[in-house]
Amino acid sequence: MAISDRKLSARALSFSVLSFVANLASAKLASTGLSVNFNDVDYYISPFSSGKLDVSKKTLCNLKAPSVLGFKPITVVNHEGVSEKDLTGLLSTWAQTDDVYQDAFADAVFVAESKGKKPRNVVAERAPKKDSKSIVSVKSTKIPSGPYFLEVSTGSVYPVYRLYEDFAGAFVESLIPTPEGKFQPLSAQTSGSASLTIGVPSRLYYTKTAEKPLAGVRIGIKDIYRLAGVKGSNGNRAWYNLYPASNYTGPAVQNLIDAGAVVVGLQKTSQFANGESATSDWVDYHAPFNPRGDGYQDTSSSSSGAGASVAAYEWLDIALGSDTGGSVRGPAGVQGLFGNRPSHNLVSLDNVMPLSPTLDTPGFLVRDPQIWEDAQAAMYGKNYKSLAKTKPSYPTKIWTYNFPTSARTDAQKILLDFADSLAKFVSGSLTPLNLEGEWAASKPAEAGALTVSQLLNTTYATLITKEQIELVREPFYPANDGRRPFVNPVPLSRWGYGDSIGDDVLQEAYRAKLTFMSWFNEKILPPVDDEKQCSSGLFLYVSSQGGQNPRNRYRSQPGVPFGFSAGRISVYTEIPDVVFPLGEVTGFSAISNHDEFFPVGVSVMAAKGCDGLLTKLALDLVEAGIIKTPKAGGTLNGDKILMRRAAEDLHQ
Ligand SMILES: *[C@@H]1O[C@H](CO)[C@@H](O)[C@H](O)[C@H]1NC(C)=O
Ligand SMILES: *[C@@H]1O[C@H](CO)[C@@H](O)[C@H](O)[C@H]1NC(C)=O
Repeated sequence: MAISDRKLSARALSFSVLSFVANLASAKLASTGLSVNFNDVDYYISPFSSGKLDVSKKTLCNLKAPSVLGFKPITVVNHEGVSEKDLTGLLSTWAQTDDVYQDAFADAVFVAESKGKKPRNVVAERAPKKDSKSIVSVKSTKIPSGPYFLEVSTGSVYPVYRLYEDFAGAFVESLIPTPEGKFQPLSAQTSGSASLTIGVPSRLYYTKTAEKPLAGVRIGIKDIYRLAGVKGSNGNRAWYNLYPASNYTGPAVQNLIDAGAVVVGLQKTSQFANGESATSDWVDYHAPFNPRGDGYQDTSSSSSGAGASVAAYEWLDIALGSDTGGSVRGPAGVQGLFGNRPSHNLVSLDNVMPLSPTLDTPGFLVRDPQIWEDAQAAMYGKNYKSLAKTKPSYPTKIWTYNFPTSARTDAQKILLDFADSLAKFVSGSLTPLNLEGEWAASKPAEAGALTVSQLLNTTYATLITKEQIELVREPFYPANDGRRPFVNPVPLSRWGYGDSIGDDVLQEAYRAKLTFMSWFNEKILPPVDDEKQCSSGLFLYVSSQGGQNPRNRYRSQPGVPFGFSAGRISVYTEIPDVVFPLGEVTGFSAISNHDEFFPVGVSVMAAKGCDGLLTKLALDLVEAGIIKTPKAGGTLNGDKILMRRAAEDLHQ
């Protein structure tokens, strides 16, 4: 393509001067970046330079590349000893593997000399042709390989972000990192209907190393984790408006950043991480859209943005959510993703909004189990016992609980087939668990005559309300000059329950949790002393069965989460509980008036501290072809999201 055919235009310019601070003491002028459109692709030019190219002014001015507001698109190649022949192949690989890079960045290519080697004049090696690229040799540079925009007047190069529309409504704020280790808003907007624009930097800038296993991995962060320089909302508008930006990033997220992860934005949570259903419960913010099936199913909560985004966007690798009573596992199940509630207390939750510190855990939603493994190892640090590089001795006892016993539906068939395949894979067998029966036979004396369901009926509701009232509501309510800040109906009704019970009920709830945990972790799923096995058994229950929960339904009044279910076991016992996507089933959608696909998933638990065993199991089962890595899209196979045409299609 000739240069004259290229389209490069400036759009939505914030300030035309990059990184300029005026000399006047009182005036501060800073660029917040620049948006451009290049061959119909929207890009954002970071305001933070990656460095300067040591090239003469004349060379810079003569580059055969289009120009906008003093910037030219260029490519930096910073690889040891790249020959010109290699170069062509390298650049075409980049265009295929990186969503930010396109061929047109190669009009001007700067090839860094290998360290210690004599400068090689690449330009001279190439016969000048009319439509040839400018290939310029530069001295060894620290600028990573990839596409950039070059400021011709200074020789400084600036990183490129590709802009995407958050059409699933998963984000609350779009962010870029600053050189000081903080974050600031991404000041760009691409076309979209009431949706944010998210920017992702080229993957080519990052190289995975032992210290940076997450280099370039793009992550969304649930809006209960505080980031340096960023205001948070916890899903509550008043909170966002009443409190200043945080002055530091909490250790859980910082561990991810230190391992190389690229934070692209904050994501929606149902309010104060309580369970809310789309759409009526979501008063302050509109609930995100689940991209699977008919596109109008509830995302589940509270890590709603996390699940919707990873299910919808191929350009996003992973999201950090949190799970107190199912807030990672629910969204993972209904959106066909891997998701984990980890063992309790693997990493500090300092600078994270609490629901109940006794039960809160930070976990991920992800498509690729290898990224899942790397992210857990990075965030949980020494508390994560990785088995990724060993051959585990998988436990052979597999408990099933409330599991289908016959394949009357397609979803039940998928679940049963999985259980059978798993049993074969570990050379083990399935044991249906009669929890109340086992409990009756071996329960501790302090439980008296109570069944499990009686003992734990109000435990969850008591812990989350009493603890959140003290830690979140009490400091929050007076923050608004004597007027009560607005709170959504669900957290309000739950806090109302907390107000109605005394401290004796809270103490009783702590005792009930402890009683059940001690019993379960000793009698049902104890750990074993062998590092390669870790857990005495695996434990399966149903995560999702392809059911429908459309978001246009009118619901009953919000209530208090009483009762006991399979999903509460890990909550009380502090054991890891992860979701594996298994497949999908067709169901008739009243939304599309058509059959659509809805995800089916299984929950798998192991003994406390055996998180690494479960991730390794996911990796091994994918390798064995027993489960498949889900894709982003309308189905787990990556089909189109309904009622959405990609910008690329509309241009044709
Ligand atoms: C953040 O601000 C608080 C309150 O002003 C202060 O106590 C704390 O030391 C600051 N922390 C950091 C890391 O700057
Ligand atoms: C659980 O507690 C609620 C509220 O006290 C009560 O209405 C319900 O009947 C209880 N259920 C069981 C199984 O004890």
